[in-house]
Amino acid sequence: MSGFFLTIEGCEGAGKSTAVNLIKEWMSEKGIEFTETREPGGTRVAEDIRSLLLSHHGEALSDTTELLLMFAARSQNLFHNIEPGMTAGKVVICDRFTDATYAYQGGGRGLDQQQISTLENLVQGSRRPDMTILMDVDPEVGMARARGRGELDRIEQEKMDFFERVREEYLNRSKVFSEQYEVIHAGGSLDNVKQQILSVLDRRLASRIKGRI
Ligand code: TMP
Repeated sequence: MSGFFLTIEGCEGAGKSTAVNLIKEWMSEKGIEFTETREPGGTRVAEDIRSLLLSHHGEALSDTTELLLMFAARSQNLFHNIEPGMTAGKVVICDRFTDATYAYQGGGRGLDQQQISTLENLVQGSRRPDMTILMDVDPEVGMARARGRGELDRIEQEKMDFFERVREEYLNRSKVFSEQYEVIHAGGSLDNVKQQILSVLDRRLASRIKGRI
C-alpha cells in the first residue's frame, strides 16, 4: 500500500468543485478510502496563509512573496494531510497542487520555472501527483462563471491575458507530462463534463489505483 495522489487543476470557474464532488461520490460507491484537501490551504496555518494570499491588502504582494507563501502553505499541507494520507494507503484528493504554481506564478506572473522547480524539490522531495485531472476552459467562460459567484479575490482580479497564460502553461504541462494528466474539456454542458470525468475515473483511475490502496 503506497496511497495514490490525485490532484485537480484548472483556471477559475473551470468546475473543479464539480469534479471533486463527482470523484468523491465515485470513490464512496466503490468503497475506496480517500482524504480530501486543497491548496493553498488544508490546515489551520495553511488556511491563514490562503487568506493572506487571496485577500486584498493595502500593500502589494511581490511575486516572490506570493511564490514562497504558496510553497509555505504546501509544506504544511504535505506534513499534515498529504504524506499521512499516503502512508495510510488512501487516495489523497488535492484541489490544486504544484502544477498551479507552474501555471499561475510561472505562466501567469512570468517567474522562472527553474526556480519553481528548486522549491518543488526542497518542499516535496520526490512527492509528485500520480494523476492530475485538468479542467480546461476558455478563461472568458471561466471568469464569467467566477464573477457570477460573487466578489473576486486578489488573484481573480487579474486581467484576462494573465489567465490566458495560466491556461497555456497548464496545457503545455499536460503535453509534457502526458502520463500524469487527464484533460477534461470543461466548457460544455454539466452533463457532458460529468460524462467525461466519469469516463476518466472508470477507464484510467480505477486500474491505476489497483494495488496502491
Ligand atoms: P481556488 O481554491 O478557488 O482555486 O483559489 C486558489 C487561487 O490560488 C487560484 O486563483 C489559483 C491560486 N494558486 C496559485 O496562484 N498558485 C498555487 O500554487 C495554488 C495552489 C493556487
